[in-house]
Amino acid sequence: MDLVYVTKDLPDEVLEPLRRLFRVEVWEGEGPVPRHVLLSEVADAAGLLCMLTDAIDAELLDAAPKLRVVSQMAVGVDNIDVEECARRGILVGHTPGVLTETVADTAFALLGAIVRRLPEGERAVRSGEWGPWEPFWMTGGDLHHTVLGIVGMGRIGRAVAGRARGFHMEVAYASPRRAEDVEARHLPLAKLLAEADHVVLCAALTEETRGMIGEVELRAMGPGSYLVNVARGPLVVTDALVRALAEGWIAGVALDVTDPEPLPPDHPLLGFPNCLVVPHIGSASTKTRTAMATLAAENLIAGMESRPMPARYPAPG
Ligand code: DGY
Repeated sequence: MDLVYVTKDLPDEVLEPLRRLFRVEVWEGEGPVPRHVLLSEVADAAGLLCMLTDAIDAELLDAAPKLRVVSQMAVGVDNIDVEECARRGILVGHTPGVLTETVADTAFALLGAIVRRLPEGERAVRSGEWGPWEPFWMTGGDLHHTVLGIVGMGRIGRAVAGRARGFHMEVAYASPRRAEDVEARHLPLAKLLAEADHVVLCAALTEETRGMIGEVELRAMGPGSYLVNVARGPLVVTDALVRALAEGWIAGVALDVTDPEPLPPDHPLLGFPNCLVVPHIGSASTKTRTAMATLAAENLIAGMESRPMPARYPAPG
């Protein structure tokens, strides 16, 4: 029986189908599986069900000579050396689609929270700073009748655009390809940043997108603009973001993802009242995380049985 290694203890309903078909070993410890444990556990594994916190690189693949399938419980695959997997004939699976709406909900929750200054207001209530009603205390921006710039018009970008219409926002986007099915202006990134009131990052992390929002881009956004990142931390140059907040280049930022991640509690970003950070929970509804784990298991089984995976990366064709 083939051995499958799973780098996180997943619900029984997800692991059971695997146990019926394979010998299954699971990392049951706290946090991500330590690197040395992973390297030794994959020595005999034909299948690997992994998390975005596991680096699946050449060293790992060298340590796993029998590996045929890598199935990740995430849509982003920037932790996997996909080209190296392809070179070695190892199939890669991921979990697009099932998390789209939940991540778009999170993007909108973050956008609303930072633009309407909800974290600052809530802190003021708790600290006793809330006094009699003041006409211009805690005034922020609006969502309605503003221009929302979306960077990356894939599934999640489209779902964010759909929500924006309900808020009477005008949508524009920057993306390598025009999305013919989306009624919105397709703009070069520089123009988008200059025109948008708020910017939501929904792009995958690749060598092309790493650091795409740096000093020049943040300055281009302007002092009334808010930035939201629900994609990957390294899309934004963190030092530039710190300066942007310190010097008022932008109005504020809300991050589900950071670079580094996790963000240390004494990180300079956390000193700014107009910076909201949540711990990479964009897809973290129970229903969606269960759907992601289930799809990851289905991908693994299909790949191991040489059937088409429900969600292979890159998608065939
Ligand atoms: C992903 O799937 O890539 C997210 O970051 C975790 O939901």
